[in-house]
Amino acid sequence: MKASVPSHDEAARRVDELREALERANHEYYVLDQPTLSDAAYDRFFHELRAIEEAYPDLATEDSPTRRVGAEPSSAFHKVQHLAPMLSLGNAFDELELRQWEERNARIAEEVREAGYVVELKIDGLAVSLLYENGRLVRGATRGNGQIGEDITPNLRTIKAIPLRLRGDDIPPVLEIRGEVFMSVRGFEEMNERRVRDSLPTFANPRNAAAGSVRVLDPRITAQRPLRFYGFQIQEPGRGAPPAPTQAAVLKRLREWGVPVNPQHERVADLDGAVRRIREIEKIRPDLDYEIDGLVVKVDRLALWQELGVVGGREPRYAIAYKFAPDIATTRLESIEINVGRTGALNPYALLEPVEIAGVIVKLATLHNFEDIARKDLRVGDMVLVKRAGDVIPQVIGPVTDQRTGSEKRFRVPSKCPFCRTPVERPEDEVAIYCPNTSCPARIFWGLVHFVSQAAMDIRGLGERTAQQLLDTGLVRDFADLYHLTAEQLLELEGFGAVSAANLVRSIEESRARPLSRLLYGLGIRHVGQHAAKLLAREFRTMDDQMAAGLERLSGVHGVGETTAQAVCAFFVEPRNRELIRNLRAAGLRMDEPIERADRQPLAGLTFVITGTLPTLNRKEATDLIERHGGRVSGSVSRNTDYLVAGEDAGSKLVKARELGVAVLTEPELVEKVESE
Ligand code: IVH
Repeated sequence: MKASVPSHDEAARRVDELREALERANHEYYVLDQPTLSDAAYDRFFHELRAIEEAYPDLATEDSPTRRVGAEPSSAFHKVQHLAPMLSLGNAFDELELRQWEERNARIAEEVREAGYVVELKIDGLAVSLLYENGRLVRGATRGNGQIGEDITPNLRTIKAIPLRLRGDDIPPVLEIRGEVFMSVRGFEEMNERRVRDSLPTFANPRNAAAGSVRVLDPRITAQRPLRFYGFQIQEPGRGAPPAPTQAAVLKRLREWGVPVNPQHERVADLDGAVRRIREIEKIRPDLDYEIDGLVVKVDRLALWQELGVVGGREPRYAIAYKFAPDIATTRLESIEINVGRTGALNPYALLEPVEIAGVIVKLATLHNFEDIARKDLRVGDMVLVKRAGDVIPQVIGPVTDQRTGSEKRFRVPSKCPFCRTPVERPEDEVAIYCPNTSCPARIFWGLVHFVSQAAMDIRGLGERTAQQLLDTGLVRDFADLYHLTAEQLLELEGFGAVSAANLVRSIEESRARPLSRLLYGLGIRHVGQHAAKLLAREFRTMDDQMAAGLERLSGVHGVGETTAQAVCAFFVEPRNRELIRNLRAAGLRMDEPIERADRQPLAGLTFVITGTLPTLNRKEATDLIERHGGRVSGSVSRNTDYLVAGEDAGSKLVKARELGVAVLTEPELVEKVESE
């Protein structure tokens, strides 16, 4: 394709076109929320641009969209002084406090009552400041202590929602834009799922994930995280007058300049309007794809900001954060019910008089365990405090004892399984109570639900209702029976048609190919979760080896504790379980673990040597990590070695690597490498 190499002039023109098209695509996507360019076309343009920039390095500028993939890592963040301090906000927790805020302000400037307010969402991310010179992004920083932040420019450049160049022509020569970097709930969940698959630690919530993604030394990591940005403030240093007459106008200008602005903001005429808007947002809060911890109410007219001043040099009076009340409500505990899970554990839960908490009707809440009920002295009929945080199952915090009437009933811990009446057992070192009967209908039901679940054998089209039908009709007595079901048999069941029956038979058929780790997990062996199942399957590779492993070998598997090893041993000793495995094998299930390759192969073609004691990974785990991502591990350092991964007490290999000029990595650097590229 020599003939198609463009001349320098042509290349320069094309580079402009491509950059324009790519930035327009980002703008349409992040600001206008109306994409017109397909992902494939975006990728094509991107690759063309990168190819031209490689051919003509002088055309590769800092603000090219190709730079969004992340520059080389740096060794530390530099401190930067903000042009004007990044202040924080005072809080209001209810309408009264909001009105008191207006009263205080009105004593300073009576006009606030008529100046209007802008109500914005307070997204729970991290505040950043973006410095633009002549419309180009030159620096990005964290808030830090408000006066001094950290320079994270290369990282912020990778966030596609942040414009590298502003659009339009009325752009001040020096300009600071402030806003919030955050992660959507969906982006957060998908990222965590990927991390589970890659055996990497997960993040606790979108806020931590966003902060952790931005404050890394390697921008290539930031580039892979699903980060977003909304701007809400303009600072023009040295300019006496405000950047626009009103906050509403500021947001409009930001949007015109190509900065994404949260579309949920609204200008209201007065505080009543603000309260109405707050109520609306409270209702839609559960449907938002990002987490907010409140709203920000801002005086719309910017001329008043100066006049109102700042409290204690820290909190400006012009705005206040309306924080949502903790998601707690009071309601009646109607009864305490019990579930028996697949392990036999009896799980108590609360049936509540339905109550609305943060826009959601709550009827059920978890009670953790029986000890907890006793400790809190919960009685049936009590008024109780119920908390609902985010998407987690609501929890009963405790009783409101001064509302007791005397008719409340103390709860008695059952002595028999509520489903099969077998006397329960209580292992000494556990708070849980168990039904020991492995044939208990409740245990079998949940065991089957678990076996077919997505993380186990992943048999689609077999929900709880079907599981119950299969057990009730006796078509399924153990897991192996599933594999002999026919479409004709399924058609006999209520709710099945020709299509759904055929689909289920096919998904059962397909599940035969699941690897050993999924099967081990699906069997529901006590203490064997997804992680332990993976560790075991990677170690033993085949069901035969797994079953033959004694206690010593099992507890020698790194990451598998004594308790788990004993449970696994006990499971495979049990004749009933051995027969189940025989039947599953006869049904044609795959019973081994492939050496899995990760989706991405960032280490492909690279040779590693490992030496010394690494801080968290043992030799086998480090080897696995490298091999799964395409790398090769060799025993000795040579000229063909790309990296030496060195831990504590590294000896001669480290010396040799230094002599040969082989790059040396620490364990965290290796992990970063796997995550990046
Ligand atoms: S205004 C004078 N508006 O909340 C302070 N802040 O304490 C100017 N935040 O970490 C902030 N959304 O990053 C403002 N629409 C919004 C906001 C917002 C989130 C964050 C901000 C800071 C904290 C304020």
